[in-house]
Amino acid sequence: MSQIRLKTPFEVERIRKAGRIAARVLRACKEAIEPNRTTAGELNALAERLVLEMGGFPAFKGYRLYPGVLCVSINEQIVHGLPDGRVIREGDIVSLDIGVFYEGFCCDTAITVIAGHTDYQRKRLVRYTEEALRVGIEHARPGNTTGDISYAIESYVKQGGFQPAQGLAGHGVGRFLHEMPDIPNWGMQPGKGVKLQPGMVLAIEPMIVMGSPEVEIADDHWAIITRDRKPAAHFEHTVLVTENGAEILTIE
Ligand code: MF3
Ligand code: CO
Ligand code: CO
Repeated sequence: MSQIRLKTPFEVERIRKAGRIAARVLRACKEAIEPNRTTAGELNALAERLVLEMGGFPAFKGYRLYPGVLCVSINEQIVHGLPDGRVIREGDIVSLDIGVFYEGFCCDTAITVIAGHTDYQRKRLVRYTEEALRVGIEHARPGNTTGDISYAIESYVKQGGFQPAQGLAGHGVGRFLHEMPDIPNWGMQPGKGVKLQPGMVLAIEPMIVMGSPEVEIADDHWAIITRDRKPAAHFEHTVLVTENGAEILTIE
């Protein structure tokens, strides 16, 4: 028997409200970045204030003892970067990831921002990762499987000379931050995995690297970084699988 409980319209409405808050916070954080001046910690403080002002509740803070509201993952940090005193420098690739609860239901969403100007290859990495999310979402429809999403993401980025980071995955979301099913970005075949059904809510999140796909845990025990220290990018949306396709819930 499947362990995946489909979401009711009542629940989806709450996830949608959480998603609107999260999208607004990410936009505000993006606009707040002034290269060589802003620290990751300042973005976290801004995110916390805005989430609470809009009636949401931070979903990451306290999750497995994570101390932040936002994950700020810079350059070689793929995901789960701690928002500390690190200054965001001109040309950095900065992933901003946030989860928000609204009346008991949560969303999860991330963008990658380039601070100021950067080189051609870094711009391409970010563009391919954002586009990989769009391609993944296009494959989230009834009759397809989680493997179809995974395979679409992996084959798309490989065309650009990039790869998904090893072992990292998207996931179901809604009642909890991480639910079944897993949606690996890596190593799946089309038609494999879990069959998608209307009412499933999924966090699809390509985490894409410029160099080797091998990862390791940073000394702070939180950030997942590339072993070769080359940059990574990350985009994420929470989507609802509908009769005809997928609807993005983490938009304004
Ligand atoms: N948002 C991450 C994800 O996309 C999970 C963050 S967990 C935290 O799945 F503990 F780091 F906040
Ligand atoms: Co996330
Ligand atoms: Co996620």
